[in-house]
Amino acid sequence: MEFAYSLVQLANGTTSIRSLAEGETFHPVIGPVAEAEALYVRQLRLPERLQASTDEEWVLWDVGLGSAANVTTAIRHLAEIPQRIRIVSFDHTLEPLRFARDHAQELGYPVGFETAFGALLERQHCEFTHGRLSVHWQAEVADFPSRIQSTEPLPAPHAIFYDAYSPARNPAMWTLPLFRRLFERLNPQRHCAVATYSRATLLRTTLLQAGFFVGAGEATGEKEETTLASNTPSLIPRPLGSDWLGRAMRSTSAEPLETAFYRQAPLTEATRAALMDHPQFRQP
Ligand SMILES: C[S@@+](CC[C@H](N)C(=O)[O-])C[C@H]1O[C@@H](n2cnc3c(N)ncnc32)[C@H](O)[C@@H]1O
Repeated sequence: MEFAYSLVQLANGTTSIRSLAEGETFHPVIGPVAEAEALYVRQLRLPERLQASTDEEWVLWDVGLGSAANVTTAIRHLAEIPQRIRIVSFDHTLEPLRFARDHAQELGYPVGFETAFGALLERQHCEFTHGRLSVHWQAEVADFPSRIQSTEPLPAPHAIFYDAYSPARNPAMWTLPLFRRLFERLNPQRHCAVATYSRATLLRTTLLQAGFFVGAGEATGEKEETTLASNTPSLIPRPLGSDWLGRAMRSTSAEPLETAFYRQAPLTEATRAALMDHPQFRQP
């Protein structure tokens, strides 16, 4: 597989990266840092949750490492917290990371992380301190759907950044079997929240069917609404309710994808019944 990247100037003056092979711009509207702050750092309440944690190590999954804008922004916001964080980044290529390291000055956010990027490129892990934060960062370089389905262990996360290309472009990253397996890999005793930029009905029914509680996520400047999911309702401030369920029942694009083939379809009878029986919607 060949990957090539270029710098792009966004309308608001910030610089981002474009994958030429995939025809996709990373963080296309508000830019890498602003998107990471709104969508992941604030919405997942990373500083508050990390600060309050009594676990020996706090685990963050970063699905779609790309150029590491999300991770570097998160580390900067967590720098004053004297805790240990383990970041597990997933991507099938480290080429955007290499490109970001080689264009650190133009992009801005990689500055100060060049050594960490170099270690990830060379040996897929690194350890360092950033302010008072102690960081262990590893890169899992593999096809994510295959990696998640494998029996190889992974540390159970407290938070997940889910930043793949859209379901229409990259359906393999949005199937129900993938999210079911991801849910199985959570520790039921460990609260975990997942944020993603999409608000698609199909994504939300997929997360619900996989076992998550699902809520509307904050606006990011690019999207008027995003999605937040969790294995506990306590991390979902705005849970989807009966209005949303009614719309999903009428939608022509709501049935989860079973395979990596993108198609739009209304909910099947079996999915409708399962959704109505989900603890989030079940009437007391
Ligand atoms: C929108 S970009 C991520 C941007 C990134 N989070 C950042 O902060 O720069 C999506 C990423 O998903 C990765 N990706 C796409 N399909 C994948 C797959 N099947 N397995 C693993 N990674 C995949 C791409 O290589 C790309 O880096």
